[in-house]
Amino acid sequence: MTDTHVGPTRESCARIEGAYKVFRREGCEVIVNAGDIADRFCPDGYRHYRDIADEIFPDPSSRPKEIFVYANHDTNGFPRKPEEDRSVAFPEVRRLLGIRHDLYDRIEHRGYTFLVVPETLDYKRYEEMIAEACAENPGKRVFLCDHRPGGGTTPMSSDWGDLDGRRRVILNRYPQVVALNGHVHGTIRDPRQIWRGEYTCVNAGCLSSWHGNYFGTVPTVKEEFGVFVIDVYPSKLEFRRFDVRTGESFEVEPMEATERVRAELWRRDASGEWAVFAVKDVEYPFFLPPEERTPVENVKFHPACFDEGVPYRITLTPIDFAGRRGTTRLVDEGIGKAAPGGTIVFQCDNPMEEMPFIYGLDGGEPVAKDADGFYSFSGDDARLVFPKGTWDGPAGTRFRYVLDVAMEQGDKRAWSMTIRNPTPLTNGHSRIFTMNGKQGTMRYAVDFTKADENFDFYLLFREGPPGRIRFDRIRVERLRG
Ligand SMILES: [Fe+2]
Repeated sequence: MTDTHVGPTRESCARIEGAYKVFRREGCEVIVNAGDIADRFCPDGYRHYRDIADEIFPDPSSRPKEIFVYANHDTNGFPRKPEEDRSVAFPEVRRLLGIRHDLYDRIEHRGYTFLVVPETLDYKRYEEMIAEACAENPGKRVFLCDHRPGGGTTPMSSDWGDLDGRRRVILNRYPQVVALNGHVHGTIRDPRQIWRGEYTCVNAGCLSSWHGNYFGTVPTVKEEFGVFVIDVYPSKLEFRRFDVRTGESFEVEPMEATERVRAELWRRDASGEWAVFAVKDVEYPFFLPPEERTPVENVKFHPACFDEGVPYRITLTPIDFAGRRGTTRLVDEGIGKAAPGGTIVFQCDNPMEEMPFIYGLDGGEPVAKDADGFYSFSGDDARLVFPKGTWDGPAGTRFRYVLDVAMEQGDKRAWSMTIRNPTPLTNGHSRIFTMNGKQGTMRYAVDFTKADENFDFYLLFREGPPGRIRFDRIRVERLRG
């Protein structure tokens, strides 16, 4: 299990209790919590966790071995100077939870080696531990309890996992390793949570909530209740999945099952061909038990995605866990009507010349332009700057921005887009993931509420690969009510 994110109450440990009951019934000998035990450093939460574990396994002589990964959520809010967090908070976590191993440690069980490492790594020590354990166990699996997955392995590992990819580079050299990970949150109904490549990576999902990387939309918050039980044989690992609410086992989705439904709004482009103008992923509810799932029938695009008198079509296409598109259905077509918007406070039909696009969150160099009028963008933080006064208005003012933009970026990761106030750093809305691959002009229309009168926003692009971007038009409206 992983990312249990408990709080100060015993109720916040309810999923732990369910998990431990499953582990007792299944006769588990080793229990791994892959990190982010509490949401913030939380003595009461650790005490409840310990109490529950001891109630379920009252006899110390027959208790399973417990392994806890020290990850950074357990230092958040520690009541001392930040630089003391890890060195002072982790010994406290250890004491309160009764953890029997150190930050970096090696635990042997019935001939198998388990390595445990903290989230913030000394990579040299990391590789030494792995190299040693693999050399001493030729031909045998070595279990690595590590909060973050290597980049490009399990879902979201490229977006929010091991961002500099150093774990992946090291682990690629050790095919014996079975990494037991967390950090990115997700659901273990997703078959991609077990990844087999240069090594093996198992992402245990979370026992808290998750979002997922859906395009063109702000994902909903989804609760997760799944844990893995892994049976270890000399020649194979067998994975079973359990719901901690009921203790029942459930089946993983097959790779051919629908993971998301992609809604596409089409318009005729300059050459008269139908082209995708806006995309919105609909969360197909595969993460719910099958009997609770409802089909995706229809999708509404933001009203500002339509322009007066312009013909449009809307299609739905299921996409499976391997990323393959299924049969596309036309669900709507018609002639666009202009949305009743608010007061236009800013409009620009030539942002490439008239709006600065600058690297960094402050200061910084302008992003360079290619000869054909695209920005050549490194994928590091860059902000599109609006004229002074664009976002004037009291706290609670509703704004809309409508952006037409063409992007070319890699196939694995894609930039996120966020409206952001610089001081204090506050996002106006959650991250919106842009589309990967090469896209013609597409529209993003977003409504959000300004939280503080003094907030002044830029539009931030980040968290993706190098690529090219061209801003075609942008409009900001102040909405009524
Ligand atoms: Fe977490």
